[in-house]
Amino acid sequence: MSSPPSASANRPARLADALRAKGDIRTRVWRDVFAAVPREVFVPCFATHETGPRGTEYRLYEGTDPAQRDAWLDLVYSDTTLITQVDERPVEEAVTAGGGVGQATSSSTAPGLMARLLEALDVHDGHDVLEIGTGTGFNAALLARRLGSEHVTTVDIDADLTAKARRRLTGLGLAPAVHTVDGRRGWPGSAPYDRIIATCSVPYLPYAWVEQTREGGRILANIAGASTGRWSWPRFVRAPRGAGSSPSGRGSCGHAPVSPRSVTSGRSTPRRAATRPPPPPSAPTFCATRGSRSCCSSPCRTCGPTGRATSTTARSPA
Ligand SMILES: C[S@@+](CC[C@H](N)C(=O)[O-])C[C@H]1O[C@@H](n2cnc3c(N)ncnc32)[C@H](O)[C@@H]1O
Repeated sequence: MSSPPSASANRPARLADALRAKGDIRTRVWRDVFAAVPREVFVPCFATHETGPRGTEYRLYEGTDPAQRDAWLDLVYSDTTLITQVDERPVEEAVTAGGGVGQATSSSTAPGLMARLLEALDVHDGHDVLEIGTGTGFNAALLARRLGSEHVTTVDIDADLTAKARRRLTGLGLAPAVHTVDGRRGWPGSAPYDRIIATCSVPYLPYAWVEQTREGGRILANIAGASTGRWSWPRFVRAPRGAGSSPSGRGSCGHAPVSPRSVTSGRSTPRRAATRPPPPPSAPTFCATRGSRSCCSSPCRTCGPTGRATSTTARSPA
């Protein structure tokens, strides 16, 4: 039986309150933003996954199917990652009703992790933000609701995803700038940014992002450990030009190595950052302060998880 339209009305607020109770949302302002943006608009169809005998197997949920509507809504407003693309095809094409296999290439990240990242991004009124990895558009909607659409730019390498995200955002009266581009280039057209957040993982920080960040601005990126196989979300702060270098310890600045600190474990994980390509000698340095563990985001499509370019297909703009 399908739910009446009003049944979903307070679900965003209930999810926001649950995330606040768990500590994923720490501030009132983000609680209110999560309560105000309906996730269901961004995930009309998705798959969940589990590991079966054939590897990762997907199960499709479609909000338009009356028989699935309640289960679909329950998942939309749970702390679950929802897969929206498999093998670079819309999930409803790649995964039949009976299930399917393949590589997830886009998803709506679990709201709890989204909340932790948005809190860690530490945005303030008037900040300009660039998001790498538009995906469904839900994170861009949260940012636009928080800062105003004119302060938000979001890019994705996949034109189908950006077109859908733009339509959904418009439907909610939000109009952040949405562009189709290889996010490793950032988006110089709206730079400089106070904050850059990457929702796809990269093995190193593309230097374009550093160049497009204001001095004192921050970059929050999911760095996939090319050598260690580990994932983390270090947060980099672009230091003023000419800032001194002190490569050891938290909060130090230097080209590398830097020592991001895990928010959850408190362990310091030395790693090299922004060393490929190396910044020019006169470039400003930046330092990593802290990050948080856990990741469910897709790897950068052009770098892949190992840092080597994996694709030069038409998806990459010339
Ligand atoms: C976890 S999803 C993003 C979730 C999204 N922020 C949301 O709220 O739905 C990661 C996205 O990164 C995109 N992506 C992967 N490599 C990219 C690249 N080189 N440049 C831009 N976007 C990329 C994928 O197409 C995918 O949509």
